[in-house]
Amino acid sequence: MAGHSTYEPQSAPAKWLERRLPVISLMRGSFVDFPTPKNLNYWWTFGGIAFFVLVVQIVTGIVLVMHYTPNDTMAFASVEHIMRDVNYGWLMRYLHANGASMFFIAVYIHMFRGMYYGSYKEPREISWILGVLIFLIMMATAFMGYVLPWGQMSLWGATVITNLFSAIPLVGESITTWLWGGFSVGNPTLNRFFSLHYLLPFVLVGIVILHIWAFHTTGNNNPAGVDPKSEKDTLPFHPYYTMKDLLAIVVFMIFFSWFVFYLPNYMGHPDNYIEANPMVTPAHIVPEWYFLPFYAILRAVPDKLGGVIAMFGAIAVLFVLPWLDTSKVRSATFRPVFKVFFWLFAFYSVMLGWLGAMPAEGIYVILSRVFTVLYFTHFLVILPVLGLIEKTKKVPDSINDAVLGKTGHAA
Ligand code: HEM
Repeated sequence: MAGHSTYEPQSAPAKWLERRLPVISLMRGSFVDFPTPKNLNYWWTFGGIAFFVLVVQIVTGIVLVMHYTPNDTMAFASVEHIMRDVNYGWLMRYLHANGASMFFIAVYIHMFRGMYYGSYKEPREISWILGVLIFLIMMATAFMGYVLPWGQMSLWGATVITNLFSAIPLVGESITTWLWGGFSVGNPTLNRFFSLHYLLPFVLVGIVILHIWAFHTTGNNNPAGVDPKSEKDTLPFHPYYTMKDLLAIVVFMIFFSWFVFYLPNYMGHPDNYIEANPMVTPAHIVPEWYFLPFYAILRAVPDKLGGVIAMFGAIAVLFVLPWLDTSKVRSATFRPVFKVFFWLFAFYSVMLGWLGAMPAEGIYVILSRVFTVLYFTHFLVILPVLGLIEKTKKVPDSINDAVLGKTGHAA
């Protein structure tokens, strides 16, 4: 991350520190002087936005824990107590609950940006793989967090998802009992989910640091997908991208606030305002919106184990994406056919999301099967083949050429 800084400590304490622990030059090299491609567009602000939301989640979460009780007889009431009695407790809770959705919005846009501009390709495979790992841990964290208010959807969502492990041959039942800490989702389950829900965001911070380290080692990708060749292709991170990221974060905060203050329960489920009751199963058990595409894939397969494998496979395939896409050209800007398939893939994902919220019957199941097949075909057939046969457009020689054209005037 360091190595780009021209920083020379001036004051005596700064010189003293630099000789012993060069954190100032490390930070300057990473976030002040860091040479960044000059053509990054606003899609490149979503990594920073995701980081900002992660911080919001940690801060609001820590405050919530000061009043929350992770016990099956008290959890639901403690959340109501936060909402009604604790000063600004409603704000902390609504920021945290909607923050989870905002985090997924930012990260989904960030991932699709990466897919469009080929950011996963050589030499940024590690940034991408760490990203997929982040995505997995985020999903586990969000799932366990949703259990904590101990409403009907908390209990029954946890029951459906933990039961999936029972599909594993021979050891499945034992694994499920072990996960529960008993013979159904109950107090021990709530306690361990609370413990892990508190732990995992800090693990995320650690992996995010590695993620940033990785693409600071290779340098950022950019909309043209060509590597910087000279100083003309880059700008220092500060003030150019600090200010651009800050503006994007402020705009995103307005969007976030709109939900928190005007539609705080829009993305939640009304059944979660009913206390968990193991004797009453809700008519429809639906996960949060960000899990819906994967839920649709799970239910598309008639066999339970097959469904679980397909669902995890839908994420696992992302790990090997850098090797499935055989094209040497990174950016979709210069790949006319890939561009069409990219938008088709985005369409499949949205359709799967819609189908995940529909009842698992009739036409919905048939459509889920169709889109599940299309989802996997995109990765396993289209991308490997397309890279070999697609006729790409001419890629600019440099970032400077991409921005200004050969003439030096704005293209
Ligand atoms: C906590 C979640 C995440 C945070 C805070 C985060 C943060 C960042 C930041 C700040 C950047 C540089 C700016 C930008 O490109 O937007 C970045 C780049 C990148 N991220 Fe993430 N990221 C997260 C999740 C992910 C996920 C889930 C993936 C993919 C599955 C991913 C893949 C990438 C790639 C490939 C790059 C390099 C892009 C480039 O070089 O331009 N990230 N990330």
